[in-house]
Amino acid sequence: MAETKSMEKIVNLAKTRGFIYPSSEIYGGLSAAYDYGPLGVELKNNIKAAWWKKFVTERPDMVGLDAAIIMNPKVWEASGHLQNFSDPLVDCKSCHKRWREDHLLEDKAIKPKYDKARPHDPRELHCPECGGELTPVRQFNLMLKTFLGPIEDTSGIAYLRPETAGGIFVNFKNVVDSMRLKVPFGIGQIGKAFRNEITTENFIFRTREFEQFEIEYFIREKDWKKSFDQWLSVMREWCLFLGLDKKDLIEHEIEDKDRAFYSKRTIDFEYKFPFGQSELYGLAYRTDYDLKQHQQFSGQDLSYTDPVTKEKFVPHVIEPSLGVDRSFLACLCAAYTEIEGGRSTTTESIKESEVVLKLPYALAPIKVAVLPLSKKEPLADLSQHILLDLKKNFVAVYDETGSIGKRYRRQDEIGTPYCVTVDFESLEDKKVTVRDRDTMVQDRVAITELLVYLKEKFNL
Ligand code: GAP
Repeated sequence: MAETKSMEKIVNLAKTRGFIYPSSEIYGGLSAAYDYGPLGVELKNNIKAAWWKKFVTERPDMVGLDAAIIMNPKVWEASGHLQNFSDPLVDCKSCHKRWREDHLLEDKAIKPKYDKARPHDPRELHCPECGGELTPVRQFNLMLKTFLGPIEDTSGIAYLRPETAGGIFVNFKNVVDSMRLKVPFGIGQIGKAFRNEITTENFIFRTREFEQFEIEYFIREKDWKKSFDQWLSVMREWCLFLGLDKKDLIEHEIEDKDRAFYSKRTIDFEYKFPFGQSELYGLAYRTDYDLKQHQQFSGQDLSYTDPVTKEKFVPHVIEPSLGVDRSFLACLCAAYTEIEGGRSTTTESIKESEVVLKLPYALAPIKVAVLPLSKKEPLADLSQHILLDLKKNFVAVYDETGSIGKRYRRQDEIGTPYCVTVDFESLEDKKVTVRDRDTMVQDRVAITELLVYLKEKFNL
């Protein structure tokens, strides 16, 4: 059984099956903006809920936060985003297309991805689209600016946050004072971030509006190596939980010369997407740089005093930083499975290739589909009762159109782990057939036992 996957097929499935649509499509869309459809929102919510559980609520040393997107602009002065959060931009003098110079260099393998030090001759590069000459490089700030209040003058300038981390640092003192936490502890947040990216590419991989999962884990300086390793293994576990294959994950240790000056260690998690190997997440030891910057710019004391020893210090931080949309995309790419020739044994589908979205069962947008063998009574009535019962516990759907083989394949394509078939015998023996997406094994289960059976399957 050969398997093939491509971005084109994944993007097509995402649109036609209700996972992701181009934003404002009836008006011609908007570059790199996407909307999560009915199945997409379920999958994304499941990923977010699982992250929140694993990284925040399941742990005794973590709390959560939901900070505002628009913050006092001084936050971004202190964090360095206003001065330094920029990408190198070049324009094509002929077709006027804009490019990120570092990406063009990477594509040409002129320098290794992270080697910012190597000087290059701009004449080595040309427009990838038309071969035209490029302008000299200029730095382009990625912060999305807006104005607060009715008058658009400098006093009203504000920014949409470029990362969620800022909201965590500025609430450090509030959380310490209100939650009686002891270092080491961390604050986790899920939320939108905005970057005016020069180039957007590869579906939801790089967009201007996206979501992040971020943690700032506050520690004593002496503990940084131990804490870094702990978060590294939590992130590895998370990648496997998403269904990513170990062989497609690369941990890229960022060399000294390529790290931000305040970071003592950074690892980028990279994933082999169908369009190429690219950054998925980052894990960084950022020393005490951020809290000290905010202490200096705000004039507030952001030190922590140990309640027992009275030792007073500014904590250091380990920062696991993950993208929600990239998690979604990696999960979708890993799950997409096309089986040439199909795996069904029915004659109608034997020759066609079959798509199975092998999402982890816990993440599947729809957990169970109820499929009556007939649209008519009394099967319809019994099936509707089963559906409504299941809906109290699971996201469940009803599908009565087409042959049973076609209906199984429709559910396989969207990753539904279980299909419940209600047949004429069900009226007599009060049992239904439950079919597993991956093994295709079918069990005959009493209707009264169905909920318990499925709960067991989902480890609930
Ligand atoms: N606080 C550190 C920070 O924001 P980052 O590497 O710039 O670090 C962290 O971003 C993660 O956010 C990335 O690894 C990626 O998963 C996600 N991310 C960043 N820019 C993105 C974009 N334009 N579109 C989608 N996801 C993005």
